[in-house]
Amino acid sequence: MGVFLVYVLLFLLALVSLMLLKSQKRENLNLPPGSMGWPLVGETLQLYSQNPYVFFNTRQRRYGEIFKSRILGCPCVMLANPEAARFVLVTHADLFKPTYPLSKELLLGPWALFFHQGRYHAQMRKLVQGSLSLDVFRNLVPEIESIAKSSFESMSVGQVVNTFHELKKFTLDVAILSIFTHLDTCYKERLRKNFFTLDKGYNSFSTNLPGTLYKRSVLARGRLRQILSKIIIDRKEKRSVQKNLLGSLLNFKDENGEILTDDQIIDNIIGVLFAAQDTTASVLTWILKYIHDDPKLLEAIKVEQKAIYELNDGGNRPLTWAQTRNMPLTHRVILESLRVTSIISFAFREAVDDVEYKGYLIPKGWKVLPLFRNIHHNPDFFSDPQKFDPSRFEVGQKPNTFMPFGNGEHACPGNEVAKLEMLIFIHHLVNKFRWEVVSSKSGVQYDPFPIPQQGLPANFRKQSCS
Ligand code: HEM
Repeated sequence: MGVFLVYVLLFLLALVSLMLLKSQKRENLNLPPGSMGWPLVGETLQLYSQNPYVFFNTRQRRYGEIFKSRILGCPCVMLANPEAARFVLVTHADLFKPTYPLSKELLLGPWALFFHQGRYHAQMRKLVQGSLSLDVFRNLVPEIESIAKSSFESMSVGQVVNTFHELKKFTLDVAILSIFTHLDTCYKERLRKNFFTLDKGYNSFSTNLPGTLYKRSVLARGRLRQILSKIIIDRKEKRSVQKNLLGSLLNFKDENGEILTDDQIIDNIIGVLFAAQDTTASVLTWILKYIHDDPKLLEAIKVEQKAIYELNDGGNRPLTWAQTRNMPLTHRVILESLRVTSIISFAFREAVDDVEYKGYLIPKGWKVLPLFRNIHHNPDFFSDPQKFDPSRFEVGQKPNTFMPFGNGEHACPGNEVAKLEMLIFIHHLVNKFRWEVVSSKSGVQYDPFPIPQQGLPANFRKQSCS
C-alpha cells in the first residue's frame, strides 16, 4: 500500500511539474505583433470599410509576415509566410481545425467533409478525391464539351449577359456531372433551381425572418434534401454500380461494415456542388476579362487552340484527352489568373491547443489565417506581382508559394477538374465566339469571391466561318 502511495505521489508530482513547465513556457512566449483594435469589435470596422487586401497588406508592411488582429470578436493570427502556412496546413494540421460560422455549416450540412478532421474526414476525402480524379475525368471530356456547347447557346442570344451568372450555370452542370454522371432532366432542373436559391442567401445575414435571403436559402436546402433523397432511393433500387461520387458514397462501408446515412451522403453532395460552382465560375470570368483586354494574348491563345480545332476537322470531332494535356499557353493563363485573383485569399483554421511557432504563441481557440493572396503577391516570389504575366509559369515556382487550391489534407480535390473544364471552355470560346465587354466600370466586386464589376456584362456572338 505504502509503495503504491509513493508511486501515485511521484506521478502527481511529475504531472504538476509538466503543467508548470508548460505554463512557464507559455508565459515566456510572446503573442505575434499587431493590434487587437477596440475592445470586442477589434479591427472589424477597418477590415470591412476597405478593400480586404489593403487591410492585410498594410498590416503585413507594419508588423511583418505574422501578425495578430481581432475580427468579428475573434482573436486571429494572420500568416503571410509560406513556411508558416505549411506549418498550419500540412506539417501540424492536427493542431488546427477548420472553422466556419454555424449559419454556413447549417446551410451546407454539418456532415460535409470540409467541416471535419480525422477519421471521418479521411474517409470522405478518399471517396471525393477518387471520383474527381483524372482517371475518372479523362473519360468525361466529351460530356464537358457538350455542357460547354450548350452554355454558349444560352450566352450568345444577341443581348448583353452577365458573364459570371452564365458561367455559374456551366460550372454547376459540370459539378452535377462529376457527382451523378447522368441525371434525369427533371431532377437536374429542380436541383439547379434550388441550388441557385441556396447559393444566393449563403452570405446574407442569418435570420429566421420569413422572406429574407437567408430564410429562402434554408427552405431551398430543405427542398434540395428531398430531391437528393429521391435520387438516392432511385439509385439504390437500380443497384447499378456507378463510378461517380454518388456511387462511391452509396457503396461505402467502413472497416466495421457501417454504411453512410442519407444525411451524410446529402451533405457531402451539397458541399461539393457548393465548392465547385462559384470558385471556378469567378476564375473563368476573370480569364475572359484578361484575354479580352489583351488582344495580343488572345491572338496567341487562338493560334494554340485553332491548331487543335483544325486537327479535329474544324471541331467536328471531339477534343481528346491528350489534346487537353497539350495546351501550354492556355494552361499558363489559367495558372496566372489563379495567382493574380487568388479568389480564395485565405484559409480559416482554429488552434485546438496552445501552439508555439517561431517563438510566438498562438493561443488555443484563436483563429489562424494563412494568407494565400499575400503570398501570391509577394515580390520575393513573383516579380512585379500586380502584372498579369502568364510567362512566369514557364518555370516552376518556389515550394509552397503557389497555393490557389490550398495545401495539405484539406487542399482542393477538384483542382484538376476545375482546370480541365476551364481548358475545354476556352477552347470552344476562342474558336467559335467573339465577345465584347460592355461595362464601362472597372474594378472588383465581392460576391463573396472577387469578380469583375457587375459580373462582366458582355455580348457573345458566334463567329462567322473563316
Ligand atoms: C478554380 C476553382 C477552385 C478553387 C480556386 C478552389 C480552391 C479550394 C481551396 C483553396 C480549398 C481548400 C480550403 C481550405 O483549406 O480551407 C478547396 C477545398 C475544396 N474544394 Fe476546391 N476549388 C476550386 C474548384 C473546385 C471544384 C471544381 C471542386 C469539385 C468538383 C472542388 C471541391 C472542393 C472540396 C470538396 C474541398 C474541401 C476539401 C476538404 O476539406 O478536404 N473545388 N478548394
